[in-house]
Amino acid sequence: MTRIILAICLITSILSSAACVNKGANSTTSTGDTIKVGVFMPMTGGTATFGISSVNAFKLAADEVNKAGGINGKQIELVVEDTRSEASEAATVVSRLVTQSKVVALLGEVGSSRSIAAAPIAQSNSIPMLTPSSTNPEVTQKGDFIFRSCFIDPVQGKAIATFAATKLNAKKAAILVDKKNDYSVGLAKYISETFKSLGGEIVVEQAYQEGDSDFNGQLTAIKGSNPEVIFVPGYYTEVGLIAQQARKQGITVPLVGGDGWDSAKLYEIGKEALEGSYFSNHYSVEDPDPKVQKFVADYKAKYSATPDALAATAYDAALIMFDAIKRANSTDGKMIRDALKQTKDFPGVTGTINFNENRDAVKPILMIKVGKGGKYEVADKVLTN
Ligand code: PHE
Repeated sequence: MTRIILAICLITSILSSAACVNKGANSTTSTGDTIKVGVFMPMTGGTATFGISSVNAFKLAADEVNKAGGINGKQIELVVEDTRSEASEAATVVSRLVTQSKVVALLGEVGSSRSIAAAPIAQSNSIPMLTPSSTNPEVTQKGDFIFRSCFIDPVQGKAIATFAATKLNAKKAAILVDKKNDYSVGLAKYISETFKSLGGEIVVEQAYQEGDSDFNGQLTAIKGSNPEVIFVPGYYTEVGLIAQQARKQGITVPLVGGDGWDSAKLYEIGKEALEGSYFSNHYSVEDPDPKVQKFVADYKAKYSATPDALAATAYDAALIMFDAIKRANSTDGKMIRDALKQTKDFPGVTGTINFNENRDAVKPILMIKVGKGGKYEVADKVLTN
């Protein structure tokens, strides 16, 4: 882990002036004149692209603010830790960020199971935590120091099921769930509820586990039930493999999933087997809004890559947190929390952001079609507020 973080720091320090500290055994972190913000993200493991995109965007945001003078005259210092795509590691690194690195606020994680594992530690230490992209409702229920700047899965599940029922005219659906992943289990439940309420039927339900690579048994059962769509509310690695194996079995119906699909690796793994499938997401790189296009250009200039939704949601979350610290004019956890609560119409690249009474954001949702060559096409925009 240390080596990877150092490598990331090295790469980014060549590209930028943002401070980056690896919290290793003997790193000294406090100079007294920086504001330390803890970042916990999956830099390795099955969802590493989520972490890499998110951390890139955090640094872009920190650099912008630092170049403009920092927060009330102090530079922001990001302290980055790798959760290795594991919930238990998320809890471990967040404890370290809070007790050893003495960060004043936390940004992370992407995966809901890991945010759920980390949130109680942030809460009990009165350190505000903002997740850019964990969508399971339970995350912010861990306490009043826990915020999210994205939509939640009941809303996302409703959008996915409504799209399948009304735009794809599906009446019979299969569902394939990652049974140990809070995000997948929750999203599957919300999709089923809405699909049934619209007169649809879930004809078969199958399960897998993150890390599996052979889905043929589940797909044989699904094929036997003749669904018109297959809901796959999972993460990109397994989704890509599922698409490949489904097409090999002669299953031609679209797969439909959620934000967990978004990664450049999705198409690399699934290839043309994914074309004609759909997933919900937080933003589109094609959005003509000038602030979105500026973000896309800045990110591309710095990282030579197109920012995915993880990068976009992370960029917004970092700027919201920095803005709250500035308005709090303090590094006290309670004061930052109160300032976060008062965030009003934040003009994010993923939409205008306000927190509701549960400290969740209410935002539009996009349905994306995976087109020829893996190109994302906006198939529908669902306004949720
Ligand atoms: N929403 C997913 C979760 O809660 C994570 C995710 C967000 C993945 C955005 C991709 C894009 O686990």
